[in-house]
This record gives sequence, C-alpha cells and structure tokens, in this order.
Amino acid sequence: MTDLAQRGRAFFTSQFGYAPEGLWSAPGRVNLIGEHTDYNDGFAFPLAIGMRTAVAAGLRTDRLLRVTSESFPGVVELDFEALTPENLQGWAAYPLGVAWAMSRAAAERGPADSLPGLDLALSSDVPAGAGLSSSAALECAVALALNELWGLGLERPELARIGQLAENGVVGAPTGIMDQSASLLGEPDHGILLDCRSLQTEAVPLGFARGSLSLLVIDTRTSHSHADGGYASRRRACEAGARALGVDALRDLGPKDLPRAAAVLDPETFRRVRHVITENQRVLDTVAALQAEGPGAIGAFLDASHLSMRDDFEISTPELDLAVSSAQQLGAIGARMTGGGFGGAAIALVRDADAGTVAEGVAQAFARAGFIAPNIFPVTAAGGARREP
Ligand code: GLA
Repeated sequence: MTDLAQRGRAFFTSQFGYAPEGLWSAPGRVNLIGEHTDYNDGFAFPLAIGMRTAVAAGLRTDRLLRVTSESFPGVVELDFEALTPENLQGWAAYPLGVAWAMSRAAAERGPADSLPGLDLALSSDVPAGAGLSSSAALECAVALALNELWGLGLERPELARIGQLAENGVVGAPTGIMDQSASLLGEPDHGILLDCRSLQTEAVPLGFARGSLSLLVIDTRTSHSHADGGYASRRRACEAGARALGVDALRDLGPKDLPRAAAVLDPETFRRVRHVITENQRVLDTVAALQAEGPGAIGAFLDASHLSMRDDFEISTPELDLAVSSAQQLGAIGARMTGGGFGGAAIALVRDADAGTVAEGVAQAFARAGFIAPNIFPVTAAGGARREP
C-alpha cells in the first residue's frame, strides 16, 4: 500500500502544485458467492481484496471541484453550482458523481451551499473492467475522503448507498449495493455476509490460509459494462418475476416457491427467478458449510452457482465457462464466474500445492481455444476503505 500511497501523494502534488491534505484508499472486491442477488434484496458473500484505489485530496477555499486521474490525461474542472448528473461524463462522472451524491446527503442534514470545493487525484491498482469493482473502489475512496473533509459524519452503510447512488444516478449503471459494501466493510481474512435488505453485515472467517487454500482470480480480459443492456435486462426480469409472484423482491421467495413460479412465469423469467432463489440459498449454505466444516467444504456451492449463472441467468461467456471448467478439471475445489457477468473474471478455490498447475493449465486451455491470454493471480481478503497514515 505504501507504494500506492506515495505514488498518489506525488501525483497530486505534480498535478495541483501543493501537497494533499490526506490520502484515502478503498479496495476492489471479489464476490465469493451470491451473484445478482443484491438488487433482489438478497444475500451476497464478497471479500475485499488487496488491490486498492487511492484518492489524494485537498480542500479549496472556493467552490471549484477539480479531478485528475493517473489513467486519463488532463484535469476536469467543474463549479459546484454546475454539479448535476447531466453535466457529468466519462471517467470523471465517478468521482464527481460521488461528490454530487454526498452533497445531496449533506443537504438533507443542513445547508449544503457552503461546502467547499476540492482537488482530487486518483491512482489505482485495481484493473478496470476485470469484474473486480474498480468503480466501487474509486467511489468508496472518494466517499470516505469527502465524508471526512466535509465533516459529514456519515456511517459506512450510508457511504455505500452514496456510492451506489453515484453509479445508478450519474454513471447510469443500475447496480446493487454489494460492491460498495464489500469495499467499505471488508476485513482481512474474512468474507462479508451481506443482507442486502437490512444492510446488516457479518464478517465470517474464511480460513483459506489455515486450510492451505488459495483463491485464484482468472481475469479473462474480456471487458464488460453494466451500463449496457444485459445487466439491466436481468434486473428487469427479476423485478417482473417478483411482481408476477406478488412479492416485494425475490428475496421473499425460497426453494419451496419454485413450483408456483414455474406455473406462473414464462420459461425465461422462471429461469432468471430460479437463479436468484437458488443463489440466495447457496450463499447461506456456503456460510453454514464454512462455519461447520471449513473452506474445503464450499466447492460444490461455487460450482453450482456457476451452472446457475450459465444456464438459468445466462450471463456467462465462453471464456468464463472455459476458465471454470478447466480449473475444475485441474483439481480446483470449486470455481465460478464472479461479478456481473458478460466478461470479466472467474475465481477458483484451489489447494496451495495445485495453484501453479491450475494457473498454467487454464492458460494453456485458453491458448488452445484461441482466446486471449488470461491474467491469473491469487487474492486474499483485505481490509476495507481507510485513511492512509
Ligand atoms: C455488479 C454490480 C453488483 C452486483 C453484481 C452481480 O458487480 O455492481 O451490484 O449486482 O454485479 O452480483
């Protein structure tokens, strides 16, 4: 982290000509299980990873907002008075979208027209488009920084909502609350069991290291965007399914409701609904197995989750399917695509001793299939967003 923090501070100073007031960072995430359940008020079990995004920040005496990023040329400037979703485009919509959402939250608590402007410089080690929530890492780092610099005193679950609002209202991606929750609430060596209805969370020890297990990310390097049609159409199908079945959200249904769902819904909506109902159950089963028997016992749930996403939710791709099936053939305990789908990354839980063979074998399978070479690396569960010393 010190590398990223040093880099971030130096970048700020090179762009703005003075030293930042502070530097805040937030991690990307991997979802262990519970996909497309968050916006159905269901359960998810993500972990924060060691790759982080940092924002170095300085308060201004005027009402100007300036943002710059190591990944894009130039500085984007906007006056506070012009801070509306319509005025925000491109990469700057993420940090400025958070500023917009934070200023709305501030306005609910008192006059927000006195909030001072800011200079923000972004540096990141989270690869974009890999399904590791680089956008949530950015949003959460900025939300934590603004919360402190503007003295708002918001709790972390509220900051997660603000990150989600920025993404939904400004970037235009109708995503749920999982990524921001993982990034803000992650803990080393723990998965975060999230109840996306109550926003209650429980940190559950993963025990991967003690069990001599590694979690590999297989980034297929095929990109995805949740502002495109696929993600939104899945969300619409879930909402239509819930309406047709007379519940507020699919969270309110369990496996015993599947026969009724099959009778009421058209076949495609039924498959979408079946994924969510069974996936919620798999999250709870995974956590129960982890607590009772340890991480060696969760593989079957990961495998079943992938099949459900491939066949019922139809969000996998040939690259993700090959990543999963080849890892499984090479001895992975369990494997599944992770994140929103349509590209991005898969995860494989493997014995430490098998990690090299699995990584090499998956890369060979990709080469044989004529796919671009995947980027394969281990991740461990890391701490959530924080101010860096
Ligand atoms: C993306 C979204 C999340 C969640 C996942 C799928 O990562 O940002 O809110 O819906 O997809 O589980």
